Amino acid sequence: MKALITGISGFAGSHLAEFLLNEQVEVFGLIRRRSPLHHLNSIQDSINLVEGDLQDSTSLRTILREAKPDWIFHLAAQSFVPTSWRAPADTINTNITGQVNLFEAVRDLSLSPTIQIACSSEEYGLVHPNETPIKEDNPLRPLSPYAVSKVAQDFLGYQYYQSYGMKIIRTRAFNHTGPRRGEEFVASAFARQIVNIERGAPAVIKVGNLDAERDFTDVRDVVSAYKVSVEKGKPGEVYNICTGTAISISTLLEKLIDLSSIKPEVIKDPDLDRPSDVPLLLGDCSKFKNQTSWEPKISLDQTLEDLLNWWRDQ
Ligand code: GDD
Repeated sequence: MKALITGISGFAGSHLAEFLLNEQVEVFGLIRRRSPLHHLNSIQDSINLVEGDLQDSTSLRTILREAKPDWIFHLAAQSFVPTSWRAPADTINTNITGQVNLFEAVRDLSLSPTIQIACSSEEYGLVHPNETPIKEDNPLRPLSPYAVSKVAQDFLGYQYYQSYGMKIIRTRAFNHTGPRRGEEFVASAFARQIVNIERGAPAVIKVGNLDAERDFTDVRDVVSAYKVSVEKGKPGEVYNICTGTAISISTLLEKLIDLSSIKPEVIKDPDLDRPSDVPLLLGDCSKFKNQTSWEPKISLDQTLEDLLNWWRDQ
């Protein structure tokens, strides 16, 4: 099998590349000029990296012609919610136009890969307490430009399936974390500060909204779900990927502190507040489990320990 990963140099993309290689899948990746490749250090000789850009149809056709992938995992995106308020047009353009260009390049070349698109639980946005755990047919009430871009990606996946019969599987992953998570995302933001304190920085942790609740899955479980989705998922369908357990961000912080030896002061940083924050994301992934038999295997405690250790190694 041959797989093309967009966003291969990123957090989930690099874990997916490793996972697929272990499963004897030939891996191609689209990278932008100047993409940092450090997450791919250990596997760079075993994968095929092609320079290009989702905004550039010619480069997309070149890599698709070369790879002729059986599977495409479309992970590349502007994925940080706060950036989408600072640069809404860029987020919309990167995420929506990038995916349209990919779909159109596949169509132009008359290829018929199975395409997984990384949609998001952020699409649910404002969820009422009586709507949890959230199922796929819950109303979408997006609360950020990022979430709107993911709704559009999601519906474009549906539309290209209906219009052209393209084998598109939509996955709505809930929060995921683990080693290599970018420092701007909450678990890494906390873990990095904890490790800095362990190394002698002042014992202060800056935080944003601690009341939000999220359903965290280990990134290594998420990428195994992505692979299973193209093997066993039904084209045109949408699947939640989550654990079915939510914790508050304050509990997440406590767990990380408990895994360390520090006793920090926790300070609220108003700069980390968002114009609107999704209060609760707790998913129901029984549809995906019933279709594929996928189960997450790694506990949150293990994930957080691995994340802290990863930061300690940096
Ligand atoms: N980033 C960050 N930094 N978030 C903080 C902090 C902090 O210091 N303190 C509290 N939070 C709160 C945020 O307000 C939010 O409620 C929650 O922690 C999680 O924030 P993020 O880690 O930035 O993730 P997200 O939930 O906004 O979005 C992530 O999950 C989505 C899936 O639901 C991203 O990975 C998205 O790309 C993904 O689609």
